[in-house]
Amino acid sequence: MPIPISEVMETVQRYVPKNFTPRIGMILGSGLSSLAEQLSNPVSIPYQAIPGLHAGSVTGHASLLAMGHLNDIPVACLRGRLHLYEGATYESISTLIRIVKHLGCHILIVTCAAGSLREEALPGDLMMITDHINFQPGNPLAGPNDESVGPRFIGMEDAYDLGLQDMMSASASRLGITLHKGVYISTLGPSFETPAEIRAFRRWGADAVGMSVVPEVIVARHCGMRVACVAAITNLAAGMTQEKITHEGTLQYGELAARKLTKLIPAFIKEASNELV
Ligand code: HPA
Repeated sequence: MPIPISEVMETVQRYVPKNFTPRIGMILGSGLSSLAEQLSNPVSIPYQAIPGLHAGSVTGHASLLAMGHLNDIPVACLRGRLHLYEGATYESISTLIRIVKHLGCHILIVTCAAGSLREEALPGDLMMITDHINFQPGNPLAGPNDESVGPRFIGMEDAYDLGLQDMMSASASRLGITLHKGVYISTLGPSFETPAEIRAFRRWGADAVGMSVVPEVIVARHCGMRVACVAAITNLAAGMTQEKITHEGTLQYGELAARKLTKLIPAFIKEASNELV
């Protein structure tokens, strides 16, 4: 049985600065954690210190829950995410998202790296995610449901909030940043896809592919957070070019896209926070 979120929060709250209530949460994917460096007066909690996160599912030094102000807005950042392909459990992923909710966040901004299934969305570009296809082997809500967290069955028609999409589009166009829109398909990974898989995914209507996002968004919607998601396009998906996909290549283009995200997210947060007062 998972540790109840109320128990997890007892530990987390010990780290939270007095009178600090973040309203916007963020997940910063690999290569995108530079945003967390912009936080003023940051306070961080290592994931290892959080009960219920199984030690085996936490890798790397930068796995921190960081809290502070970004553009004068109090935010909570999940710096480093848990992936199913590393052996992370749905339980641990759910715990992290529910912590963000219980800290006070009404909005979750999800960032990720993704491969593009569209010729016009190139490495280094950004794509705002408008819907998803869950191609991972399970659902984080399967199993006993805690009614105090959210209902047994949830609709997913509006998983990616339309109002937040409009705001993000407006912020991007003010900054002169091209923002593609598309449907994200999740794979378990860690192998990249075969060209045949990508051809199939394109027929299904997918525009971007990656190994995260979907479990986090399902859990966030279950506990009532509004979600916005933007992908850093790091490569054209398998078989779409002669180039082979490598982790190193994805990191290089991830950096290019991260520079755009570092401008877009603070502007978007400013806009979104107006809705919270
Ligand atoms: N496939 C899956 N995940 C990814 C990719 C990809 O092509 N690029 C970045 N993350």
